[in-house]
Amino acid sequence: MQKLLIKGGKKLSGEVVISGSKNASLPIIISSLLFDDLVHFENVPKVRDIFTLINLIKVLGREVEFNEEKEILKISNKNKNKYFAPYSIMRTMRAGVLVLAPLLAKFGKARVSLPGGCSIGARPVNLHLEALKKLGAKINVKNGYIDAIAPKGLSGSNIKFPSISVGATESIIIAAVLAKGITKISNAAIEPEIIDLINFLNKCGADIEYNSQRKIIIKGVKFLYPVRYRIIPDRIEAATYAVAALITNGKLLIKKVNNEHLKNIFNVLKKIGANIKIFKDSFVIFRKRKLKPFKIITKPYPGFPTDMQAQFMALATQIKGSSVINEEIFENRFLHVSELMRMGADIKIKKQKAVINGIKNLNSAEVMATDLRASVSLVLAALSATGTTTINRIYHLDRGYSKLEKKLNLCGANIKRVND
Ligand code: UD1
Repeated sequence: MQKLLIKGGKKLSGEVVISGSKNASLPIIISSLLFDDLVHFENVPKVRDIFTLINLIKVLGREVEFNEEKEILKISNKNKNKYFAPYSIMRTMRAGVLVLAPLLAKFGKARVSLPGGCSIGARPVNLHLEALKKLGAKINVKNGYIDAIAPKGLSGSNIKFPSISVGATESIIIAAVLAKGITKISNAAIEPEIIDLINFLNKCGADIEYNSQRKIIIKGVKFLYPVRYRIIPDRIEAATYAVAALITNGKLLIKKVNNEHLKNIFNVLKKIGANIKIFKDSFVIFRKRKLKPFKIITKPYPGFPTDMQAQFMALATQIKGSSVINEEIFENRFLHVSELMRMGADIKIKKQKAVINGIKNLNSAEVMATDLRASVSLVLAALSATGTTTINRIYHLDRGYSKLEKKLNLCGANIKRVND
């Protein structure tokens, strides 16, 4: 197992180039199972979740070519399709459950393992399954597997989600695009990653409309034609580096971003005390004044993203006064708290609420990464701490951050990756 050794206390300065969005790539790549021809994606990030998905797509019979240097992924259909997604792959990547939708839509059958457990909460897939049933699927869950068939194919329907789910919205978009008739989704998630999926499918001949009132209307089409498509930049990666600039009192130029997708996070950063200069597809961030404590509540987009909660908590430890974070999306997403406290942070948790009393300096410690965003919050904390912090179990980090230590070291950080 590998770990990171981070010598803190260095102000970051320089440029960071942001990779393609992991969370947009996953459903878009999965939707390629709907195609008869070659599909071609650009700006696919080199992260572990993408490699896991490539394995899954291969197991389902597709040919995959990933040019890692150019970040171009090609997927072709050689008509050797399989319909079985095994636990051995699904246990490491929850988003894999999305393959159920294209397999049902295209071939009328699928056997997909329930995704593995997850440290941040129960994360059931009931919303995916109930909505797929409304489109005509017959589903049986037994022995850890979802067995689904759609003998007459899928047909459009009205789906009102009882709560907002990114994954379930993606499942239904992918399932409905080739279904007979019209599907109307209410209370849909409208994250930029979902809009990217819609844009991709529309570019391939799908007929999908959406509005800011969380309504998505999908008119089923007969087939999709292949195009080249460029995945959007990773807004969570960009925002993570923005926090890295502030927490180290440095200054970073963050390049290849979509600033529109970052508005909600910029608003919070500015209130805290950041100076953000926005350019066409980049921004510069540094401290404008002494940072002020803040209150955030995580919400579905356009609200504040749960995927940035842990990073902002690391930042709060460095701001004098009490900051408050309410986690409203996941029931157990404060795993980073105990590790931050090992570094000297003062954090109190009451149910879904964390109160962080900022202190002067975090101290180095040996800590453990627990999930993707929790891990990166420890990296941020370590960058600002005195001494050398050891972060264990960094495979979580590699799931979602491409070349993290390389990007940070180029800006003056001192991070080493070592084997145990
Ligand atoms: C996606 C993102 C993840 C992000 C999350 C919320 C990907 C690959 N992952 O995860 O990074 O943190 O959105 O923005 O894009 N729920 C149910 N039943 C379901 C589905 C979800 O109860 O069938 C609950 C979940 O347990 C959670 C909430 O709904 O409490 C939101 O989850 P969801 O939006 O579905 O998250 P994911 O799509 O798994």
